[in-house]
Amino acid sequence: MSSHASQGIEFDEPLIFERGAPGRTGLSLPPLDVPAVEPADVFGALARRTPARLPEVSEPEVVRHYTRLSQKNFGIDTAFYPLGSCTMKYNPRVNEWAARLPGFSRLHPYTPEDHMQGALELMLRLERQLAEICGMDGVSLHPAAGAQGELTGLMMLRAFFRSQGRSPRKVLIPDSAHGTNPASCALNGLDAVAFPSGPDGVVEPETVARLCEKHTGDVAAIMLTNPNTLGLFETHILQLSKIVHDAGGLVYGDGANLNALLGRARPGDLGIDVMQFNLHKTFTTPHGGGGPGSGPVGFKRFLEPFRPSPVVKEVGEGGTITYTLDHDRPQTVGRLRSFYGNWGMMLRAFAYITEMGHDGLRAAAEAAVLNANYLRARLGDTLQVAYPGVCMHEVVFTDRDLCKELGSKTVTMDLAKRLLDHGFHAPTVYFPLVVPGALMVEPTETETRQTLDDFVETVKGVVKELREDPARAHGAPFNTRLRRLDEARAARKPVLRWTPKE
Ligand SMILES: Cc1ncc(COP(=O)(O)O)c(C=O)c1O
Repeated sequence: MSSHASQGIEFDEPLIFERGAPGRTGLSLPPLDVPAVEPADVFGALARRTPARLPEVSEPEVVRHYTRLSQKNFGIDTAFYPLGSCTMKYNPRVNEWAARLPGFSRLHPYTPEDHMQGALELMLRLERQLAEICGMDGVSLHPAAGAQGELTGLMMLRAFFRSQGRSPRKVLIPDSAHGTNPASCALNGLDAVAFPSGPDGVVEPETVARLCEKHTGDVAAIMLTNPNTLGLFETHILQLSKIVHDAGGLVYGDGANLNALLGRARPGDLGIDVMQFNLHKTFTTPHGGGGPGSGPVGFKRFLEPFRPSPVVKEVGEGGTITYTLDHDRPQTVGRLRSFYGNWGMMLRAFAYITEMGHDGLRAAAEAAVLNANYLRARLGDTLQVAYPGVCMHEVVFTDRDLCKELGSKTVTMDLAKRLLDHGFHAPTVYFPLVVPGALMVEPTETETRQTLDDFVETVKGVVKELREDPARAHGAPFNTRLRRLDEARAARKPVLRWTPKE
């Protein structure tokens, strides 16, 4: 079995608050060169009476602490990370260079507009790049994650209906959808109507037509992920868009899987009215995990009045163009977060798109799809492919047959855990929910054939081991710092608070 992982020393690292000693410091501040101020004179009752309990540590202690924490992490910079759906895409170093340019990184969000013309221009240019890539008329960079982009898109859709004197509530969502789709509906006060995908894993027009009839006059939208979370292209997308539009609804595109379509197809040309981009999944920014990421929203012209505010605007023409922030947006859904979005992510995405250009993005999409199909073809006789046929950027396997053959219920979990011992991050497991024992593999475009072959040989080896010595994999992982965790307990009784010892 192919394996490049071995064991090395890792440290038990306490919290930084548990390190250090009173008076220890890593700072050397210059002498005060302004008059000293008594905090109570300035802040009154709000002034702190006791010092904050901050760690008192030396510089090497801080450096070691964070280096050791980073060593506990498995990242895309460490090894192959074939996490389906969530996508761990390599973040090129040129992005980091761009994001660290002092003129950008030191920009304060309260900087007057005439001092941040370059930043405003870059934001507008990124909006236009994303709009062009997706066939949309406009893009807002405000949302801080894909999920927040969904929330924003649905808010805009509701505001649009309200402006028309309507308030339809039903949002049709196939059972393969990401969990954030129904959650975004619920946060918008909309009703998610789940429906089954067809036997070949894609949405069937007849099902959607039936639902539109059942909820006549109350269909706000269909939420479609394309390619869907089974890694399949929604082949009836044009028909689906028409059915929902004819029923008075709009088409929301979950653009999380856009990586497979770049330069090949544009959601806007497929009938999508509003969509979110997950910059981390397509445009190589770090994954925000619902937080400091970026999930811009693309929309068709009729939704423009409702986009988040403020909006970057170009004023003048030719050599006299300036950029300004337009706050006068009476129909806007408002602000989604502080300031204008996650600036560092915008810089990284802009650097990536600009470097790749049209041909580069298209080549990336093609390689991502090719790599997924290579794994599908090479592993198809070892693991069972959930939906036979060509896939897009990710391939979903099921452990159904292997569980039956081995009399086990945990083949997917055992395989995933055993892969860790060989230095591979596990693929996504047990999602999408419609596939029993799903194992969802997304190799992305940057992996070499050699890495893919190593992965294939390792998976084959683990499956062989499962047949010969099932207890071994069931006890895995063995080489990681922590052994198999009680995931139910970790989810239900997480320890989230730390209280200092007196
Ligand atoms: C299909 C799909 N929709 C939505 C999301 C949510 O995106 P985010 O994690 O950026 O909030 C994801 C996760 O990457 C996803 O795969």
